[in-house]
Formats: sequence, structure tokens, C-alpha cells
Amino acid sequence: MADKEGLKVAKDYHTDVAFANDSGFYVKGAGHLDWGMKRHLSNIFDPKSGNTVMFAFDHGYFMGSTAGLERLDLVIPPLMEHVDVLMGTRGALRTCITPANKKGIALRCSAGSSMIDDDLSHEVIAVDIADAIRMNADCMAIQTFIGAEGEKDSLDNLCKTIDAGMKYSIPTMGVVAVGKQMERTPRFFKLATRILAELGANIIKTYYCDEFEEIVAACPVPIVVAGGKKLPEDEALTMAYRSIQGGARGLDMGRNIFQSNHPVAMAKAIRMIVHEKATDKEAFEFYTGEINK
Ligand code: 5RP
Repeated sequence: MADKEGLKVAKDYHTDVAFANDSGFYVKGAGHLDWGMKRHLSNIFDPKSGNTVMFAFDHGYFMGSTAGLERLDLVIPPLMEHVDVLMGTRGALRTCITPANKKGIALRCSAGSSMIDDDLSHEVIAVDIADAIRMNADCMAIQTFIGAEGEKDSLDNLCKTIDAGMKYSIPTMGVVAVGKQMERTPRFFKLATRILAELGANIIKTYYCDEFEEIVAACPVPIVVAGGKKLPEDEALTMAYRSIQGGARGLDMGRNIFQSNHPVAMAKAIRMIVHEKATDKEAFEFYTGEINK
């Protein structure tokens, strides 16, 4: 292991230069993966835009019934046609979502904490590869806690899931959580996203931040941006727009859809940004028009 002495600050990201090793497949860093992995990735990232709208409703795995998700069975079905991927727990999917759907499945596969805990960083692998296969998951989502007490165990969960995923051709999505000790800074996100990609994650989910283009440039797999806490719709659409402009290959929105007063209109507006090159202003104009119909 290289020592930490004399570390130079990384600075040459060449953000204006496209990813060099994009031979063989349109998903970043997936060129040398097996056919099955590419098939799953094509269920997540639209082959035309290369992007994805993930609808996240996995909050219950540690938050219980979350505002806006009190009734999974009522909230999710009307949104399905407007999103590309369902990001949920196996419990939510099996009980509330018809298997007769053509959406990609991002399966929440880590768990182990609850909102009661002060430190959420202690998780385990909560879904084994056999059940991920049964669920026909297109990726397995594992939370990682760089800089938190549970850092090592969370990275161990990620690596074990990647190993199983490589064996049975199911991609792994490394999810960057912001440990209590860590700040939502570009430096932290550059560190966390790159570690997850180096460990073999096929997709990284993180948050939008300053210097986002550099984070994307330094990450050899696609980055999907989590929406985070509920924002006013125009601000959420601006964050979505800046993420895509900055090189994110999609959004993984939860609260900014299901806590919106008009979730379907919001999902449609996000889709415009992700797949139709709309600006945030155009998307917000659409949203406003939809809700005032
Ligand atoms: C919850 C998650 C969510 O999938 C992720 O945070 C996206 O949801 P939101 O947009 O509400 O943040 O990991 O634990």
C-alpha cells in the first residue's frame, strides 16, 4: 500500500476529454463485461440516451414508513410508466409491485441499521445472490460509509456482493452514504466514488456537488445522482439538470418525486432532463403546465 506521506493533490481530470475505454459497449467501463452483465445494464441505462431515471422507494429499509411512502401499493404503480428503474427492497417489490412490469430493478441488498440508531454505518449484506437472481435484479445496491465507523464492513459488503455479482452476472451499485464525520465536499465524494469503482462496483450512486465534472471524469463507471432531501421542484430540477450536464448518467430520485404534491408531473419533468436534453427551466415550465391543467 502506498504510504500517505507526500500525497500530491490530484488535479488533472481532463474533464473535456471523453472516457477513453468505451469500446464494446455504451455503458462506461462495461466494455469487457459478460453478455449477461451488459444485458442487465441495458435494462438500467437507456441505449439511446445512455441515461436512467431510477425511482427510489427503498427508504423503508431503515426509515420505516416514510412521508409520501405510507402506502407503497398506492404510490408506486402510477409512477412506473414514467421511470426506467425501480429501486426498492425485496419486501416492497414482492408485496406491492406486479412482476408483470418491464422496468429495470435496482434491488436494495444492504441493511442493518434503523432511524433509531445514532450511527447508520453498520450494515450487512441483507439479500443473498440467490434471492437477487430470483428477483431478476438488474443491479444490487450496497450502501458504503467511507469515513464512518462501519467503513470497513460496508466495503466488505460491497466486495462480497461484487464477487457474487461477477459470478452470476448481476451488476453491483455502490451507494455513497455520507458518514457522520464526513462533509458533503468534492474531496469526500472524489474519494468515495473512486474507491467504490476501484473495488469493482459497476454503477456508483452519489450526490451532486461542486466540481462534479471532476468526480465523473475520475470515475470509470457511470454515476447516478441521488436526489436527497425534498427541495422545491424548481431547485430539484436544477440539481437534476446540473447532474446530467456534469456527466451523471441518471438520477435516482425518491423524496423529490414521492413527496412532491404532483409526483407524476415531477417524474415526467425529470425524464425530460434525463432523456430529452431539456433544461431545468424547460422541465419546470412543463411541470407547472402539468399541474395547472
Ligand atoms: C435511501 C436511498 C435512496 O435510494 C436514495 O437516497 C435516493 O432517494 P432520495 O432521492 O430520497 O434521496 O438510498 O436510503
